[in-house]
Amino acid sequence: TYVVTDNCIRCKYTDCVEVCPVDCFYEGETMLVIHPDECIDCGVCEPECPADAIRPDTEPGLEKWLTLNAEYAEKWPNLTMKRDPLPDSKEHDGEENKLEKYFS
Ligand code: SF4
Ligand code: F3S
Repeated sequence: TYVVTDNCIRCKYTDCVEVCPVDCFYEGETMLVIHPDECIDCGVCEPECPADAIRPDTEPGLEKWLTLNAEYAEKWPNLTMKRDPLPDSKEHDGEENKLEKYFS
């Protein structure tokens, strides 16, 4: 599966949802997550994210993000249409430790 990681938070550009063939993105207030049981590993979303926030879970160190994606994909609503990025998305792009600061 692919997972959404830290740099999505407070950016939420949503380009990713437009290309996903199985519509497996779910939306929280500050970020999106991918449902790991629905993702078919096609990889097309990864290069579409302007924040470079989408990663294959085969990369080392992503266990925390896989757990978070799996948990919140069950709680949040599905998002299939692109919407405007969050206000100040550019200012927050690349900031460190966004999970601790802003996640909701
Ligand atoms: Fe959707 Fe493919 Fe990205 Fe998985 S890898 S979230 S199926 S676009
Ligand atoms: Fe987030 Fe990137 Fe999608 S910032 S909403 S994972 S395009």
